[in-house]
Amino acid sequence: MTMTIQAAEKFAKENTAQVAAQYRPKIHFAAPYGWLNDPNGLIYYQGYYHLYYQHNPYGANWDTMHWGHARSKDLVHWEDLPIAMAPDEEYDRNGVFSGSAIVHDNRLYVMYTGHVVAEDGTVTETQNIAWSDDSIHFTKYEKNPVLAAAQLPAGGDPADFRDPKVFTHAGRFYAVIAAAVDGAGQILLYESEDLLHWQYTSSLLANLPELGRMTECPDFFTIGGQDALVFSAIMPNEEPHLVQIALGKLDWATKTFQMDSLQPLDQGLDFYAPQSFEHNGRRIVIPWLRHAEMVNYLADHDQNWNGQMGIPRILTMVDGQLRQTPAVTGAALQTMTLAETATRSIPVASILTLKKGLAVGQSIDLESPDGVVKLRQTTADTLELQVHCDLEQRQLPIKTPTGQGALTLVLDRSALEVFASDGAAVASLVFFFPTAIDTLKYAGEANQLTVQSFDM
Ligand code: FRU
Repeated sequence: MTMTIQAAEKFAKENTAQVAAQYRPKIHFAAPYGWLNDPNGLIYYQGYYHLYYQHNPYGANWDTMHWGHARSKDLVHWEDLPIAMAPDEEYDRNGVFSGSAIVHDNRLYVMYTGHVVAEDGTVTETQNIAWSDDSIHFTKYEKNPVLAAAQLPAGGDPADFRDPKVFTHAGRFYAVIAAAVDGAGQILLYESEDLLHWQYTSSLLANLPELGRMTECPDFFTIGGQDALVFSAIMPNEEPHLVQIALGKLDWATKTFQMDSLQPLDQGLDFYAPQSFEHNGRRIVIPWLRHAEMVNYLADHDQNWNGQMGIPRILTMVDGQLRQTPAVTGAALQTMTLAETATRSIPVASILTLKKGLAVGQSIDLESPDGVVKLRQTTADTLELQVHCDLEQRQLPIKTPTGQGALTLVLDRSALEVFASDGAAVASLVFFFPTAIDTLKYAGEANQLTVQSFDM
C-alpha cells in the first residue's frame, strides 16, 4: 500500500462508520478511525487550537505513523481535519514520528522525527522540518533531514533519537530532543537561527535513573519563574513507563540545566507523552491516556479505534506547588448540585466538583451494572482509586499533599481523571466496563457535589 495522504483519506471515508461507540469517549479526543498515540504540534494558530497526533489511519493498532489533525475553538469540541502528514518520503517512510510546532513570520513550522527501518532491521531516526500556511496542507523541506546521526554526541544511538520540541529564547530557536546515549536516556539541546540549520549545543539532563533506557517526548518551558523539563521514559526490565517534571534553572550562558526537584506529573496508571503549549499566558498540557496493560484491548475487540487524549489541563505554580486544572469551560449542558448523601445518575462526559474535597472516610462510587470506579479518602493524605469489573481490577493510592482542597473528576465513557487538592495531585485512568455506559450511578456522602454535563 502506498502511504499517501490521499490513500489514508479515502480509507477513512470508507471506514469511519465501522467505529464502535461502546467505549468511545465524548469529551476526550479520539481519532475518527484507527489508532492514536502522542499529541504532536500543539499550537494556537489562526484562531484555533490545533491538535496533531500520532496516528495509524488504517487500523486500531500501532503501525506506520501519520500525523492526524483536529482543531478546536474551546479545547472541548474538536473538528476532524484531513491527515496532515503521511510517511511518503525516504527519510520518514516507516513513520512520521512525534514532533512539535512553532509559528514564525505567520507560518506554521513543525519539526518531527522521521523513522526508517532498513531491510536488515537497522533503525535510523532523523529530525525534519515541514511548514504550512493554512495548518492543513504541509510542505516538507526539500533539504530534510535537518538533524541526523552526525549531530549526536559521542555514544548517541541513531536508532533512538526523536521527538523534537521546538521553542524560542532570546531571539533564537532551540529544540530539546530525546536520545539514548550509551544505553540511557538523555535530553539534548539543539540550536538554530532559522529553523532549517541546527547544531548540537549540550545535554540538559543525563545520568538520572528516571530517564530510563530511552527518554521520549521531552518538553521545555518556564513556569512560575522556574524552568521545567518534562519527559516520558521507557524504563528497563518492563517496569512501567514514567512521566516526570524536573524543575530548576537553565543557565543560558553555559547551556546547562541545574535541577532542583523532580516529581511525577501524574500519579495515574495511564498517562504518557504529554506535550504543552502556551496561549494567552496559559501553559496548556495534553497527554495521551496510554493504558499500558490493555493497549491492544480495543484492537482485539474490533472497535476500530484505539487511544484517547487526556483532557487539556492548565499548569500553574501556586506558592511553589505545581497545580493542574482541566481547561474545560463554557460548554456545560446542565449543572446540578447535590446535597449531602445522594444517589444519582450521572451522564458520562461530566465534570464533578467537590469544593472541599472528601473528608477522611468519605467516598464516591461510580457504578454501572457490571463495574465500579471507587474513590475513597483513606487518610488525610491518601485518596484510594479503584476500578472493579470482570475485565480488570486496578487500584492505586493518590498522594494528596494539602489534604482537603477542591476535588474535580473528569468522567467519560472509558476514562476518569482525578484532580485532587486543588489540582496538586492528579491521576489519570482508563477503564473498560464489559457493557456500554451512558450514565453511571453516583453514590457518595459528599458535601455539595457540582456536576457539569456536556452535550457532545
Ligand atoms: C512515544 C513514542 C515517541 C515516538 C512515537 C511513535 O509514545 O514512542 O517516542 O515518536 O511514540 O509513535
